[in-house]
Amino acid sequence: MVTRRGVLAAAAATTAACTTETTGGQDFDPSSWASVKAQFPHDRDSANFAAFVFASHLPPVKQAIERYAASLDRDPTGFLASDEDRLDREVATKAGDYLKADPGSIAFTDSTTAGLGLMYSGLRLGSGDEILTTEHDFYATHESLRLLAARTGCTVKKVRLYGDKPTEDAILSAFSAALSPKVAVVALTWVHSGTGVRLPIAAMADLVRERTQALVCLDAVHGFGARRERPQDLKVDFFVSGGHKWLFGPRGTGLVWGSPKGWERYTPVVPSFSRAAIGAWISGRAPSGSPGELASPGGYHTFENRWALAAAFDLHKRIGADRIADRTEQLATKLKQGIKDHVRLVTPESPALSAGLVCCEVEGVPPAAAVAQLRANGIVASVTPYATTLVRFGTSVATDESDVDRAIAAVKDL
Ligand SMILES: Cc1ncc(COP(=O)(O)O)c(C=O)c1O
Repeated sequence: MVTRRGVLAAAAATTAACTTETTGGQDFDPSSWASVKAQFPHDRDSANFAAFVFASHLPPVKQAIERYAASLDRDPTGFLASDEDRLDREVATKAGDYLKADPGSIAFTDSTTAGLGLMYSGLRLGSGDEILTTEHDFYATHESLRLLAARTGCTVKKVRLYGDKPTEDAILSAFSAALSPKVAVVALTWVHSGTGVRLPIAAMADLVRERTQALVCLDAVHGFGARRERPQDLKVDFFVSGGHKWLFGPRGTGLVWGSPKGWERYTPVVPSFSRAAIGAWISGRAPSGSPGELASPGGYHTFENRWALAAAFDLHKRIGADRIADRTEQLATKLKQGIKDHVRLVTPESPALSAGLVCCEVEGVPPAAAVAQLRANGIVASVTPYATTLVRFGTSVATDESDVDRAIAAVKDL
């Protein structure tokens, strides 16, 4: 017989199960790197140095997605009516907590690429404006800017910041030489996925402020979840990232943080689905709401993945964002030291100019062949998707010291 007490006991048990699930399971010890690594559902025979490319769903993220999907499946419109606003707010609050920013200054997207396309499309620019970017940026930035120039008539200039031996001074002086008062937007990438070089963004932003009125816009994806710095430390106006790389959040998630100055120069591109925006439309008013809310593309979407971002932020916080950043850096340094005499190391050895990416070239072995051979030896790496290809590793909390030792040995065997 179903009794009220029975129903309450079942509800309490479900709540307890959810609590342990969202924190990574009963055996999960966030202070232990072995326990953190064990959360990754990767193939146990391999050492995965490509985990950052596209995240596997860790148990708390997977369970959150499944929970929300089940609620939506049971009653899509009912669950949205009762919980959508609360869950949207929860994700924005956790993202704000992580970024040390106002939750209302964050828009949510499906990827870094979608965020960059959206952000650059919405900037108010004219035909006399110049955009300064670099030769080292990824396709997503270059293509967003090419399309922006086609629509607005603005010009895009690409500067080369470094060659074989990047130094901070050389980067800053090449950048400074390319800056002019005509520049309205500076489009940069924090950590270059083609070389592993991490730019001195705050110092570059200082130069921009001294010399121009330009906005500093950043593809932050290879630092987000892997570095200690937050948008304010970097002094940027826009900070764009996917949630499915170094944060190891749900696949198909991303965000755009903007400064007040950034959002002031921005017009939303896709209609927001916020209650305030739709309510304003119904009553014939202009929409009001936070810039992040109004810039978040509307439409029904994979709510379960978006909401499960909160679980990824929670997990990151439990492990410790600074500990993760330090661990990522230590493992990258160990890998670089171990392989540098056997390859042409393209990523700087210094942590001051790098993050968790390690790019290199193996003499006489094409990168695709090297990556295939590494995979055959249980080391998962990737090839850089650029005109010049390199072998690329990402040391993350999905790897440990013994994985790095295995990778070093496998590289020596190439
Ligand atoms: C620098 C950089 N930006 C953006 C992306 C694309 O990220 P997303 O899948 O989140 O669009 C990549 C690689 O996938 C990248 O290396």
